[in-house]
Amino acid sequence: MRAIEQESGDLLEELDDAYKLLRKTQEELIIKEKLSMAGGLAAGVAHELRNSLNIIGISVQYLHDKFNPGDERREFTKAIMNKVEKLNSVTTDLIHFARPQHPQFKKANIHKILDRTLSLVKFKCIVQKVRVVRNYAANSPCIEIDNELMEQVTLNLIDNALWAMPERGKLIIGTRMFDDNNLIEINFTDTGCGMPRKDVSCIFDPFFTQRENGTGLGLSIVHRIIETHKGSIDVESELKKGTTFRIRLPALQKE
Ligand SMILES: Nc1ncnc2c1ncn2[C@@H]1O[C@H](COP(=O)(O)OP(=O)(O)OP(=O)(O)O)[C@@H](O)[C@H]1O
Ligand SMILES: [Mg+2]
Repeated sequence: MRAIEQESGDLLEELDDAYKLLRKTQEELIIKEKLSMAGGLAAGVAHELRNSLNIIGISVQYLHDKFNPGDERREFTKAIMNKVEKLNSVTTDLIHFARPQHPQFKKANIHKILDRTLSLVKFKCIVQKVRVVRNYAANSPCIEIDNELMEQVTLNLIDNALWAMPERGKLIIGTRMFDDNNLIEINFTDTGCGMPRKDVSCIFDPFFTQRENGTGLGLSIVHRIIETHKGSIDVESELKKGTTFRIRLPALQKE
């Protein structure tokens, strides 16, 4: 009797594990499908937009230069120029998002990439009184990645974390090796606004944003890049407490 109970218990556990795996795979498939649909659409729109924006940008700059300094019409041309710049950056995001990736994998040191990204946002951290803590693994893990793409990942995640902490907070960036040094984990923890559970399930969807000036493409791009690197990304968040993004990538064994 005991043996049967034990066996059915084991079976139930196995079934439960299989069910969880199925759910996770299903969720990933849905994300993939949404991304590829939005990607095709975005590519077409972005190219069209960028060409027109170029012409608007050049024309308004021409007008702006024609008006003397102090001419109040300059305020209008300046406003148009600012908006053109903003739209340009949105379309650049869209093009990044839609561009088929041809990654160039090279051996790299992830700590260097993290440090480089942090140096880009150093000033912003000071202004927002955000303390940065680096919890790096003692040995510099060597991985094979596309440097430029991975910088996009780190920049997007840090940019989001800083948005979540507009006035003071702590950003902890950690790395650790595990699974017999076969995997490297990079985590980004902030003490920012966090997210409600319903948002957590949408954040990798293209165009999902809660930011006033956001395009909602940052995390979709991140997701795609991590996938290209055969890694995984997940998130844990608590409203008003903070958020952790965890990336796992296959590591390279050092010879
Ligand atoms: N660290 C974080 N803390 C709280 N909310 C976050 C965090 N990171 C992402 N989010 C939520 O996920 C949404 C989507 O993020 P995503 O980076 O994809 O787009 P975005 O930052 O809004 O715009 P952009 O395209 O400019 O990056 C954000 O608008 C925000 O609501
Ligand atoms: Mg973002």
